[in-house]
Amino acid sequence: MKRIAVIGTGYVGLVSGACFAYLGHKVIGLDVDEEKIEKLKRGEVPIYEPGLDRILEKAIENGNIEFTTDYGYAVKNSDFIFIAVGTPSRKDGSADLSYVESAYRSIAEHISDGDFKIVVNKSTVPVGTGRWAKEFIAGLLREKGIKEPEKCFEVVSNPEFLREGKAVEDFMKPDRVVVGADDRDVAGKVASLYEKLQPPILITDLPTAEMIKYASNAFLATKISFINEVANICEKFGADVTVVARGMGLDHRISPHFLRAGCGFGGSCFPKDVKALIHTGKVAGEEPKLLEAVIDVNERQKLKPVEKLLNHIPDLKGKTVAVWGLAFKPETDDMREAPSIPIVRKLLELGAVVKAYDPVALENAKKVFSEDIKRFGDRLEFVEDKYEALEGADALILVTEWKEFKDVDFDKLKGKVVIDGRNLWEPSVMKQICTYESIGRP
Ligand SMILES: NC(=O)c1ccc[n+]([C@@H]2O[C@H](COP(=O)([O-])OP(=O)(O)OC[C@H]3O[C@@H](n4cnc5c(N)ncnc54)[C@H](O)[C@@H]3O)[C@@H](O)[C@H]2O)c1
Repeated sequence: MKRIAVIGTGYVGLVSGACFAYLGHKVIGLDVDEEKIEKLKRGEVPIYEPGLDRILEKAIENGNIEFTTDYGYAVKNSDFIFIAVGTPSRKDGSADLSYVESAYRSIAEHISDGDFKIVVNKSTVPVGTGRWAKEFIAGLLREKGIKEPEKCFEVVSNPEFLREGKAVEDFMKPDRVVVGADDRDVAGKVASLYEKLQPPILITDLPTAEMIKYASNAFLATKISFINEVANICEKFGADVTVVARGMGLDHRISPHFLRAGCGFGGSCFPKDVKALIHTGKVAGEEPKLLEAVIDVNERQKLKPVEKLLNHIPDLKGKTVAVWGLAFKPETDDMREAPSIPIVRKLLELGAVVKAYDPVALENAKKVFSEDIKRFGDRLEFVEDKYEALEGADALILVTEWKEFKDVDFDKLKGKVVIDGRNLWEPSVMKQICTYESIGRP
């Protein structure tokens, strides 16, 4: 049993904290968001993440997890302090480290001479951040009169690879745990927190661990943009990208994963991490051309469904378009960088009436589209039922492939233009029912 504080109780912090507590460690979850902490204290889970409520309930029952907004309490009562705050994109693509920096400051405020705290970066931070953090925290401790600040803490990189929607499963059965530190003993201590999971463990230096995270996300994003580009070429020649991807994926050097053509990637990680890696490379004098193309292809791909719809209904003024799926992917309520955002906005700009539905992301979607709701009034409607979205609709765009969309009452799609942005349905069947188009399939 180890004493762990997790700073930031968002998707990563809450899942990691709950899972560490489930594994038997004593966890303190801390957030600056008082409302979130109040909810957590009442046992409510503030995000939608399958399986998280059960794990959290168990951890609370065992008395292994508590929540606070008090940094003093969290730092004093922990030996490992995991940082899991956001690192969003700045306008120039760089990672905004202000939340991370603020967390370091608050931690440093409560480190005393004689302490030894292991500060673990779980947030995705650009290569070089860990070494910079060591200088930064040491400087803050020196200002407080601590003469040998290096003896009071160490900084470790332990990037997180979980996927929203499968976060608990991914945390409990990781493909690998990466721990980077200048001090191998300290890295070993962090690795030992995962002992019960028996994962493959890779111990590296600090910058290498930081780079593994960015390189992994950039590679996955590259696979998606790659297959989307292939899909667009397939369309011109009547080739079927799903079969092309299957044929490619049988080659073990390629693997079948992340080769699903669609209307682009979104989320809080791929877009921002690829942009941050581009920025880091450029600052270092490199020209990350491939990564820039990954973002460009993705931006264009997000609007493919609207382009396809315009081929069938060239003037969308006054036409009603149903949108199914708003979250950036199924099994999450996360709307960050969701392809649905540019799609819905483009439809509204073209004069359409949009009726949008998502099984769990409606509340978050209303926040994201708050300005659009003001601007477009009742031309943007959020509905609680997928079939209600179809009432009076001329067209349907499927943006997020939630399971509940797989087997629907297809009669309700009769006579409509259906754009399947995720290749969820079978073209030969759909063409009997409606005017159907998907991505990269004849
Ligand atoms: N979401 C994912 O799927 C995922 C996967 C792997 C890695 N990551 C990385 O993990 C990090 C966190 O991502 P997330 O999606 O969990 O973010 P999130 O926005 O869901 O959560 C961040 C939390 O940190 C809190 N916070 C902000 N500043 C704080 C401070 N100074 N002190 C305490 N709490 C503070 C916020 O209130 C919020 O609750 C990011 O760097 C992200 O890139 C995310």
